[in-house]
Amino acid sequence: MKIRSVRSAAASCGDAVFVLVPDGRVDVGEVLRGALGVAKATGDLKTSFRAVGVFHQPKGSACKRLCVVGMGKAADVEAEQLRRAAALAQARAEELGVTELSLLVPANLIKRSNPFAAGMAIAEGLELGAYCFEPPRKEKPNKRSAQKCSVAAVGLSAADDKEFARGVKLGALSAQGAVFARDLGNQAPNLLTPAVMARQAKRLAGGRLAVKVLNEKAMEKLGMGSLLGVSRGSSQPAKLIVFEYKAPGAKGNVAVIGKGLTFDSGGISIKPSARMDEMRYDMCGGGAVMGLFHALSKGALGVHKPKKNIIGVIAAVENMPDADAQRPGDVVTAMDGQTIEVLNTDAEGRLVLADAICYAKKFYKPEMMCDLATLTGAVVVALGHEMAGVMGNDQKLIDALIDAGDASDEPLWQLPLWQCHKDQIKTKFADVANLNSPAHGNGSTAGGAFLSYFAGETPWAHLDIAGAAWGGVAKDYYKSGASGTAVRTLLNWIRTL
Ligand code: BES
Ligand code: MN
Ligand code: ZN
Repeated sequence: MKIRSVRSAAASCGDAVFVLVPDGRVDVGEVLRGALGVAKATGDLKTSFRAVGVFHQPKGSACKRLCVVGMGKAADVEAEQLRRAAALAQARAEELGVTELSLLVPANLIKRSNPFAAGMAIAEGLELGAYCFEPPRKEKPNKRSAQKCSVAAVGLSAADDKEFARGVKLGALSAQGAVFARDLGNQAPNLLTPAVMARQAKRLAGGRLAVKVLNEKAMEKLGMGSLLGVSRGSSQPAKLIVFEYKAPGAKGNVAVIGKGLTFDSGGISIKPSARMDEMRYDMCGGGAVMGLFHALSKGALGVHKPKKNIIGVIAAVENMPDADAQRPGDVVTAMDGQTIEVLNTDAEGRLVLADAICYAKKFYKPEMMCDLATLTGAVVVALGHEMAGVMGNDQKLIDALIDAGDASDEPLWQLPLWQCHKDQIKTKFADVANLNSPAHGNGSTAGGAFLSYFAGETPWAHLDIAGAAWGGVAKDYYKSGASGTAVRTLLNWIRTL
C-alpha cells in the first residue's frame, strides 16, 4: 500500500474518508464537521472502540462516504488502539471496494502516545491489516486491498504534525518489513529453501546495504561444524546470509542474528507427524532479520540515524533425517573450537546459532548482539503466543529490547539465565551438550544457557519467539499464520542506538 501523510484538509475529500472518532466531543476539521454532525443526529453513529459506520454523503459533498471508526474513551487510546483502528479502516475500505482511502486522526487521540508513535502505529495498522498471504494458486484471486491511503492528523501544531508525518513514514517501512517477514514465514518449506532465502536476501542489497552469502564449503573452511552437522541430513545446502548496513558516521557494529530453519523435521530425533508442517515457521527468527534489513534497505533509517553499523547474520539450514544425518551422541566442533555433544538432533536451532554467533563475533566484533529464534516449544508453554521470551548476559541491552518491544506492542518477558542453567548442560563427552536432562524441567533457559557459552563476554540477548512467530489470536492487523514478529521491535531498538 502507498501511504502518505497530508495536511488534514487534503484528506477530507475523496471516495472514502475514515475518521477515528472517540466518545464525546471531537474536532474533525472544518470540511467534515457538518457531515459528522448529521451522522450523529441520525443516532447511527457509534463511537465504542472498533465500531465502524459508513455514512453515504449527498451529491456535491466533499466526500462520497464518511466512515467512522469508533475509538471509545479518548483518554484510553494508545498506539495499539490506533494501529487496530487503522487496520479496521483498511478492512472496511476493502469491503467497500475502495482502493483509495483517507484516514483522519483527531489530535485528542494522540495525547497518550506521542505524535511520532501515533503516526507509526497508524501506518503499521494500515499496512499489516492489508496483508494477505497469496499462496501459489492456479488462479489468482482478484480480491484487492486498498492501494493508497492519505493519512492526516487534525488539530496538531505544525511541529507535532511534522513528527506525526515522520512516524507515518517509518511505520510504513517498518510494517512493510514485517509483511516481508510474514511472506517468508508462510511460504511452503519446499519453496523457501535456504538457497531461496539467500536469493531473497541478495535482492535487498544496494546503497548502504551489502549482502553476502557463504556456501557450505566456505563454512567448512571456517570450521562451522555445529551448523554443518545440522545440515548433513538435508539435500538442501545450508547458507549463511550476512548483511552489512553501513550507517553514516557510525562507529562500531551491532549484530542481529537469526535462526533460519526453513524446515525442522527434528532430524534423527524426529518430531511427531501431527502439525509437523508448522515447522515451516522455524525460520521466523531469520525472517525477522530479513524484515529488518528490508526496512533498512528501503530507507527506514533516513528517519532515525543510528550511530552503529547494523550487521545481520542468518543461519539458513534445513534439518532432515537421512543416512548421512547427524546422530544423537555425535560430537561436533563449533567455529570457536568449543565441542558440543548433540544429545538430541531436534535441538538444532542452538547448534546453527552457535556458529552464527561465532561468525558475527569473529568478523564484526559487535559491541552487542541479539539473536532471534523459534528455539523452544517450552517458551510457548511458559508464555503463550502473545509475547516472546528474552534472556541474556547484559541487563541494559535486555531492558532496551523490552522497551522497544513495548513500543511496538510486541511484548518481551524476561526469563532468568543463571549459573545453574549453564551447569545443567555440562557433559563428560564434550565442552557442552545441546540439551539439559528432562529432569531439570526448564527448556527455554537451557537453550539460552547453551547460547551463552558462545556469546561469551559480548553483551548479548536472546529472543525466543517460538510462540510469538505464529499462532497468536487474531487482532485486526494480524489474522493467522506468520506474524512477522520482532521486525518492528528490532527497528524500534536500532533507531535508538
Ligand atoms: N523449532 C523447535 C522449537 C519449536 C517447537 C517451536 C514447537 C515452535 C513450536 C526446536 O528446534 C525444537 O525442536 N526444540 C525442541 C528442543 C528440545 C529437543 C530440547 C523442543 O522445544 O521440543
Ligand atoms: Mn528442532
Ligand atoms: Zn527448530
